[in-house]
Amino acid sequence: MLVIKDLTKIFYRGTSNENTALNNINLTVNEGDFITIVGSNGAGKSTLLNSIAGVFPVEKGKILLNGKDITCQTEYKCAKNIGRVFQDPLSGTSPEMTIEQNLSLAISKSNNLSLKWGLTSYKRKIIKKHLKKIDLGLEDRLTTKVKLLSGGQRQALTLLMATVADPGLLLLDEHTAALDPATAIKIKKLTAELINENNITTLMVTHNMEDAIKMGNRLIMMDDGQIIYDITGKNKDNLTIEKLLKMFENKHGSKFNNDRILLSV
Ligand SMILES: Nc1ncnc2c1ncn2[C@@H]1O[C@H](COP(=O)(O)OP(=O)(O)OP(=O)(O)O)[C@@H](O)[C@H]1O
Ligand SMILES: [Mg+2]
Repeated sequence: MLVIKDLTKIFYRGTSNENTALNNINLTVNEGDFITIVGSNGAGKSTLLNSIAGVFPVEKGKILLNGKDITCQTEYKCAKNIGRVFQDPLSGTSPEMTIEQNLSLAISKSNNLSLKWGLTSYKRKIIKKHLKKIDLGLEDRLTTKVKLLSGGQRQALTLLMATVADPGLLLLDEHTAALDPATAIKIKKLTAELINENNITTLMVTHNMEDAIKMGNRLIMMDDGQIIYDITGKNKDNLTIEKLLKMFENKHGSKFNNDRILLSV
């Protein structure tokens, strides 16, 4: 469903700061895959997700989504088929708009009704139903402005908005990293539920090795702009953090280095 061919992204090309963030990446993602992505700092994980989402142009290669070449599509165009949640809970929602207005926009996007985002009573009913699912009592606060919510509540809402739009593809970039441990656990549980319920093809970057092993059906490890491991099936079931770190060391020649691992629970 997603095919990435020879993808290369170079920042500051032709300057003394030239930096090859993605180096000839090849990846085929199957329909329904839930892929967790790990790697040291600067490995290219976010750049990979940003390239898929059309945040910036790439130097070389192709990205095909359901057979359609989306390599040079703008971020706005990609957003129609791709849901995203970032690390920063403030980034996925519109703070001055209410909970129901935010969700209404997301639902309209899925139905391609971009201009008709008015709130009919039917739509309100759907919004309430979705909010009940995340179990934070937000269904009783429809007209609360989103800026008044906590980080965890906002991230749950962002996740819901990204999934109600029934995206072909969901991209999660360390979306629980900025939350307190208890809230992070809740949001991870919600993530798994929403993905499984809707069978959404997902790429999830995480610094948490345990989550990367436990969640999803496939684990990718990146290093220095390349995919160094792609692990599925029994091999993934039998993984442990120790094994994974050892595998990294074998390829890389030194210990795995990700500052957020030290900080994580
Ligand atoms: N917008 C940008 N402009 C310039 N350089 C960038 C940009 N985004 C990423 N880079 C560089 O590309 C390389 C890969 O960065 P990227 O953010 O993809 O790493 P990452 O694997 O997500 O790391 P982390 O675990 O720290 O989030 C790094 O050297 C980074 O400095
Ligand atoms: Mg990153």
